[in-house]
Amino acid sequence: MSVQSASRSEPTPGSILVWDVPVRVFHWLMVLCFAGAWLTAESERWRLLHVTLGYTMAALVVFRLVWGLVGTRYARFSAFVRGPAAVARYVRSIVQQQPEHHTGHNPAGALAILALLALAALITVTGWANYNEIALPWPEKWMEELHEGAASVMLALVGVHVLAVVLSSRLHHENLARAMVTGRKAGPASEGIRSAWRSLGALMLVAVLGFWWLQWQSAPSGGAGDGANPDAAAVQTEGKHAAKQSRRAGRKHDDDD
Ligand code: HEM
Repeated sequence: MSVQSASRSEPTPGSILVWDVPVRVFHWLMVLCFAGAWLTAESERWRLLHVTLGYTMAALVVFRLVWGLVGTRYARFSAFVRGPAAVARYVRSIVQQQPEHHTGHNPAGALAILALLALAALITVTGWANYNEIALPWPEKWMEELHEGAASVMLALVGVHVLAVVLSSRLHHENLARAMVTGRKAGPASEGIRSAWRSLGALMLVAVLGFWWLQWQSAPSGGAGDGANPDAAAVQTEGKHAAKQSRRAGRKHDDDD
């Protein structure tokens, strides 16, 4: 982070581009996927949707890790991942009511972002192992519990994240949620990014919608797509999970004894 982009002075008014389109598409797809996966977690009927949103989330995390290395100025990890001293200084500036201004992510918010990415990775890997019944050297139950536990921690962290966005917006007199939609914040022209990478953002959307369409085609009650075999998909999805449910019920019975 340059000295210009992390100072205690108010940014010069004027709208500059801070978040490129891929970062914004990534963010709002993450919100959609996490919310959808959470809501469908307990339902056998919506299992394929839950799994599809999980796979999408995994791909989004992989994309964000790559974009954090090669992306635009404020998207790069090197621009916002800071050591404990910077986090402490930022927190002190808040307590002293002289908040340090950061054009990109602030050092404390960056910690939450890294934790959200790590949790999303853990949830999707454990979910994938569960769904595909990957043979593991430890009881399957542990994997399920790790999956559900990590999702609960992520939900709590999302709550903290949204609260921090609201508080930070008030403190800095800038609407951060709107900036994550428009990509723009107030600031001097020299701090803006030059390209929005619209084509890459559009490609991400097309890839995700295409994947969702393919998954929908393979759903038991999905469209009658040419290459799809709805009956086989139904047997596979339902059979797998009926077996899993009955194992779960058996385990619960053992626990109750
Ligand atoms: C499932 C829910 C959510 C998840 C998983 C999530 C995750 C994230 C992640 C990973 C980032 C970093 C973005 C990047 O650099 O690529 C971020 C930033 C951000 N998110 Fe969320 N988010 C969620 C919900 C929300 C909601 C509901 C809002 C709106 C109030 C919001 C507003 C923001 C803003 C404004 C930033 C940029 C913060 C800054 O200026 O430093 N997020 N979020």
